[in-house]
Amino acid sequence: MDFSVKTNDVVKLASPCLVLGVYQGEKATLTPLGERVDSAGGHQFTRFLKRGDFSADAGVIQMFYDIDGIKADRVMLVGLGRQSNHDPICQRNVISKVTSVLSAASINAADLAIFDGLPETMSAYSAARNTIESVGESLYQYTATRSDKKKPSPLKKISLVVAKEQSKETRRAVTQGRAIAHGVHTARTLADLPGNICTPTYLAKQAKDLQKTHSIKTKIVEEAEMKRLKMGSFLSVSRGSREPAKLIVMEYSGGKKGQKPVVLVGKGLTFDAGGISLKPAGGMDEMKYDMCGGASVFGALVAASEMDLKLNVVGIVPASENMPDGAANKPGDVVTSMLGKTIEILNTDAEGRLILCDALTYAERFKPAAVVDIATLTGACVVALGEHASGLFSNCDSLAEEIEKAGQVAGDRAWRLPVWDDYSKQLKSNFADLANIGGKGAGAVTAACFLKHFANNFDWAHLDVAGTAWKSGGAKGATGRPVPLLVEFLINRAR
Ligand code: BES
Ligand code: MN
Ligand code: ZN
Repeated sequence: MDFSVKTNDVVKLASPCLVLGVYQGEKATLTPLGERVDSAGGHQFTRFLKRGDFSADAGVIQMFYDIDGIKADRVMLVGLGRQSNHDPICQRNVISKVTSVLSAASINAADLAIFDGLPETMSAYSAARNTIESVGESLYQYTATRSDKKKPSPLKKISLVVAKEQSKETRRAVTQGRAIAHGVHTARTLADLPGNICTPTYLAKQAKDLQKTHSIKTKIVEEAEMKRLKMGSFLSVSRGSREPAKLIVMEYSGGKKGQKPVVLVGKGLTFDAGGISLKPAGGMDEMKYDMCGGASVFGALVAASEMDLKLNVVGIVPASENMPDGAANKPGDVVTSMLGKTIEILNTDAEGRLILCDALTYAERFKPAAVVDIATLTGACVVALGEHASGLFSNCDSLAEEIEKAGQVAGDRAWRLPVWDDYSKQLKSNFADLANIGGKGAGAVTAACFLKHFANNFDWAHLDVAGTAWKSGGAKGATGRPVPLLVEFLINRAR
């Protein structure tokens, strides 16, 4: 997709499709650019809006042809909802509708002039970035294992029409939005692959290949080295599978030499059958998505490098399967983590924390400025927050606030839950330092509390993305979340 920024007069713009915005209110109102088109064309749109057929709900669309007084072939009016409700999430909705209508009508280029009446809470930068990201999101298609490939969308060019004063920040937004869209695309592409293709070895190979296209340095820690490092917890999970585990380490060094890096740790469980505590059959296919946290780390690094971010970032992805096998963990087994803490495995399906705890200990060697782990960790988080917000947990209030804010700005929200010692007590074991499950109640919290035990030496946050990283049902597929949140967080860190 070719994105550009234009400052041309909307009336004189030779466009296959000029898109104008309408806000809801006591009456539906065009933005100033829309009014300009309206005046040039003899107030056709004002008359139309007066009829009251057009609700101006976010994403409602009406097409017009052969409008007098302007150069564009078509005008699309799109509802933007109430101006006060026009936030990043609403905007994404709007853009996704616009994109699909343009695609369906086989229109190959469009000029969006909908950014001149933004609410005070939304900057031109944020609106533009959201738009680019949302177009990318809407045009994503899974093709890897289909022989009946759909035709790619005919839509090839999108321009953002803005005032001269806003063109500079809009250009910056386009560059960054494009990088984020690539990051999201990377994450979705990896996550949607089936478990028989996307194995730990496949992920490691993709990470190696990133070195050819991006300024990323990759190192793969193999099982033999994990043994030397005493990653007994991580290795205990992988022992139950025929696929060797990989600890993928990717470094992007855009910051000053010696600057402490932000470390992102992503759960890369390429298939989670539950192990001996086998999961029920229904919907088990979706456990190929148990590597979405890892995929988001790939995506964030791709985006950071494509936008040439001035920051050092390390991505760590512990990759493994969780399978039932003669050598698999058994309930009651006790393993020793790299940190030396012993863990009683009461449920082999709580494997994410078992691979993450050793990856967190490994992260210490980078002397991190902060560590953020991302994991499809618990079904309990889906119960608590559904698909709208990722669960956020942290041992540092300022870091938690940074992440919460980043999510808000990026339209990829997270909501904080506690990691109090009261909950940590649920992880008591009679036979080890820690149990890997916390019993009834607050499953997302006790999982986070487990990880917190391995994050004593740095500022740490944990994102449980079990509810946000993919969609079930008819539209089953990866969402690429929380790449937008992560990259927004990194952008702010680079300031
Ligand atoms: N990968 C799952 C978490 C999950 C479950 C994500 C459903 C999305 C949807 C994780 O490894 C897991 O199995 N967690 C268990 C923990 C339990 C045994 C304490 C869960 O949530 O059921
Ligand atoms: Mn599991
Ligand atoms: Zn899992």
